[in-house]
Amino acid sequence: MISLIKECNNMLQTTMVLNVNKIRTDFPILQKKINGKNLVYLDNAATAQKPSQVIKAITDFYENYNANIHRSIHQLGEDSTRLYEEAHKKTSDFINAGFEELIFTKSTTESLNLLAYSLANKINKGDEIVVTEMEHHSNFVPWQQLAKRNKATFKVIKVDKDGLLDEESIKQNITSKTKIVSLTHISNVLGTINDISKITKIAHESDALCVVDAAQSVPHMEVDVKRLGCDFLAFSGHKMLGPTGIGALYGKKEHLESMDPFLYGGEMIKDVTINDSQWNDLPWKFEAGTGNIAQAIGLGAAIDYLKKVGMENIMQHSTDITNYAYEKISLINDVKIYGPKPKNRANLISFNVKGVHAHDTSAILDGEGVAVRAGHHCAMPLSKVLGVDATARASFYLYNTKEEVDTLVSAIEKVKRVFT
Ligand code: ALA
Repeated sequence: MISLIKECNNMLQTTMVLNVNKIRTDFPILQKKINGKNLVYLDNAATAQKPSQVIKAITDFYENYNANIHRSIHQLGEDSTRLYEEAHKKTSDFINAGFEELIFTKSTTESLNLLAYSLANKINKGDEIVVTEMEHHSNFVPWQQLAKRNKATFKVIKVDKDGLLDEESIKQNITSKTKIVSLTHISNVLGTINDISKITKIAHESDALCVVDAAQSVPHMEVDVKRLGCDFLAFSGHKMLGPTGIGALYGKKEHLESMDPFLYGGEMIKDVTINDSQWNDLPWKFEAGTGNIAQAIGLGAAIDYLKKVGMENIMQHSTDITNYAYEKISLINDVKIYGPKPKNRANLISFNVKGVHAHDTSAILDGEGVAVRAGHHCAMPLSKVLGVDATARASFYLYNTKEEVDTLVSAIEKVKRVFT
């Protein structure tokens, strides 16, 4: 009986865990040698690798269906429009948004800039815009500059010593004057997972809008905009197995309807006269000009892939790998890890080897075939809080293995040997 229970448990375990070896065969680049070593790709927070299914979807589009969308009354035009709109639907479904509530952009950065321009006429002198110290520049600078232009007050929630948003600072900074609270779901430096539902509730109590930079979360966990309750949410295709050049902005329908377009031009209008213009229906009102059609279709293929593997499984796998890496790296003397304990941490670990610049660490790791990012990670305000100008960052995804973490750990040991 006991052995039967054990066997059942094992079977359950097996269904939960990813078949990483099989997954890896879908990613041609993972076969590559770097400096004569197997590539260990741990720079997934910067961009993820692409499976053959995504590469093929893009090639197939250009080989068989290429035409502009929403314009041409011919077979190819109809095919490309259908494929583009299918990709739109897959992307909105993926985060549980309505079809009209999701706009394709070129990146998270463009999504957030679009918002900061289109919401500008709702921000007046003395209003407050609130961000946090752990923001990427793309969710910091657009709001900082909007506040400057409109003479609003720009406020920044502090990060505490554990790498979490400081509770007291949240209370102090979000007030009855706050119009926008914009924060990251997962910090690209600390790996901190922020409680978006909680912050959204606080923002809404002050009648403020809550904007979420979900560039690091949508690739890794189930994100449901209805459950989070946020007003806007931005993410990129290239960090979730899709191509570069495609991103998305979710917005609640009533907000998107009341906002001005960001770009004017073809396909975003319903009628144009000498004196005025009328905007197209959502989401096309915000998609002026010829968009990134092949990239959108590639993102659709990436979403098919992620859904087939299962977002819960991906999250579980990333958590397992990250916890394993955290434990192993913590045991190395003279290595400092930044950010929260594994409980509040997503799929990445930023660290420094004592006395060694992160760029040097990264160069030695590269010599061992290990690709990490080093620098300020486009989050200079946070670097200043941490008191460092750079960190090395290992970030994991569905195709990474514990053996690769072991290679990373050996390579960090080599950094120490080279520099001490
Ligand atoms: N935002 C990406 C990163 O953190 C590029 O590396």
